Amino acid sequence: MKVLVATEKPFAKVAVDGIRKEIEAAGYELALLEKYTDKAQLLDAVKDANAIIIRSDIIDAEVLDAAKELKIVVRAGAGYDNVDLAAATAHNVCVMNTPGQNSNAVAELALGMMVYAVRNFYNGTSGTELMGKKLGIHAYGNVGRNVARIAKGFGMEVYAYDAFCPKEVIEKDGVKALDSAEELYKTCQVVSLHIPATAETKNSINYALLKDMPKGAMLVNTARKEVINEAELIKLMEERADFKYMTDIMPAANAEFAEKFAGRYFSTPKKMGAQTAEANINAGIAAAQQIVGFLKDGCEKFRVNK
Ligand code: 3PG
Repeated sequence: MKVLVATEKPFAKVAVDGIRKEIEAAGYELALLEKYTDKAQLLDAVKDANAIIIRSDIIDAEVLDAAKELKIVVRAGAGYDNVDLAAATAHNVCVMNTPGQNSNAVAELALGMMVYAVRNFYNGTSGTELMGKKLGIHAYGNVGRNVARIAKGFGMEVYAYDAFCPKEVIEKDGVKALDSAEELYKTCQVVSLHIPATAETKNSINYALLKDMPKGAMLVNTARKEVINEAELIKLMEERADFKYMTDIMPAANAEFAEKFAGRYFSTPKKMGAQTAEANINAGIAAAQQIVGFLKDGCEKFRVNK
């Protein structure tokens, strides 16, 4: 059996070593395609792969057509919007993710971006503190939970809204559960986004939702760029000089944001929420173990294309 690690944005070496150990202990072969720049390289590498470990790499019908021996794809991470699930099912390929494995890393980055913003991008002027500010967590999954835990350490007042998580589950963490996204954005000066990119959420973070955020508002996005209505966010930031946008996923309109909103807009050059050795090890090794469990025992825990 051949397991391919195909990562345009590679894991830390220590994580690759861990993956190799798991795969070779099972008697399988590991192949690596890292930092590829062209889809043709991926199409070639998948030809004889029985299993693939990816990150944000795109697995579409063309890749699946080329991967004639493929049985399973594991997205080492949470969001699987980069995999065409219907095409995978049609090709009889199992798709899994590794929920929770990189969530602390993403949560730490979200809080790091908040500190950077309230301290005026470390420009030497007096900023403000996170303590006492109201933080709204939009979607209370693995990352949202970690954000709540860390934010409470900062002394923030933590609120959350999640359409799919019962209020009691949120409130047992000492977080105030609200009834709607509208209420969350009206209540909180800082909102941290943790919704996945789906047909329902795309472009859903729009002018109508953001306009009522309290004075000194900040939106922090460590989720996906697709959930933001960029044109409407630009319009809002033009109208509100107090509004800051911090993102780990560079918007399509990055140049316009950077030019118009210097000092209150920041984007990482490449998504790096999950770029820690710990997150790479956790997610990479979980992916390797899930592949071995599936190929040897047919275990389908964490399958996302049911
Ligand atoms: C995820 O969905 O797990 C995160 O967005 C991290 O993605 P990455 O592995 O592409 O950095």
